[in-house]
Amino acid sequence: MALFPKKQNPVQAEADLTRLPRHIAIIMDGNGRWAKKRGLPRTAGHAAGAETFRTIATYCKDIGLEYLTVYAFSSENWRRPEEEIGAIMGLLKKYLLEAISRMERDRVKMEFFGDLSPLTPELRELCERTREISRHYEGCQVNVCLNYGGRDDIVQAARAFALDCAGGRADPNHLTAKQFSGYLYSGNVPDPDLIIRTSGELRLSNFLLWQAAYAEFYITDVLWPDFSREELHRAIAAYQSRDRRFGGV
Ligand code: IPE
Ligand code: IPE
Ligand code: MG
Repeated sequence: MALFPKKQNPVQAEADLTRLPRHIAIIMDGNGRWAKKRGLPRTAGHAAGAETFRTIATYCKDIGLEYLTVYAFSSENWRRPEEEIGAIMGLLKKYLLEAISRMERDRVKMEFFGDLSPLTPELRELCERTREISRHYEGCQVNVCLNYGGRDDIVQAARAFALDCAGGRADPNHLTAKQFSGYLYSGNVPDPDLIIRTSGELRLSNFLLWQAAYAEFYITDVLWPDFSREELHRAIAAYQSRDRRFGGV
């Protein structure tokens, strides 16, 4: 019996873009610290972070990634000062308006995971419009987690399932994990293969709790506004060096 754990495989220097993970999820963290380091207000960090998101989402589409899911605003982020929340919502509106105007060119399918009901009617309408226009696009699907919490996700799925049972459309005795997954915000989207978190925090912060069951993690100290295509390559290369066993040997 080995007394010492096996050494981790060394991270490959180069990502092989011909065998990408199907689904990458990103916890885009560190906007506030990025701004603070520069003596700027936190809102400037969010504006820079929104730019990075544009760059990375476009790049993911260009390299042929199937699914990208990003954590943009958590169910706990309402605890922040009103001014900061207002700035984030303003950036979201700007992003959605731009996305709508570029839709025919980009052909990215956009989805939203989370409870959108507390958003303003204007933002909800923009999310709905974005989703509707891009519904039939094939290629990259970008899922934006807005007012998203992993626990809320599981609770809303349980509620929907219970209602189906009460209405005779589902049978609780035959519920499988696969069937339950279909009730989550992610619906038929496959689980993330790789979860990236920027800014060095070693936690999930209520992100995709169910879906993360067998995801590989890549944590970098880079703050989200500084995240780059090169850093994405590093994350993909690290993923490609992992031995995914799914409980087997
Ligand atoms: C992530 O950056 C963006 C959101 C949570 C909306 P933060 O704003 O959490 O940045 P830090 O963690 O305070 O640096
Ligand atoms: C997670 O980051 C949420 C998003 C990136 C949108 P937080 O900054 O909210 O997480 P904690 O508070 O550090 O756990
Ligand atoms: Mg943070």
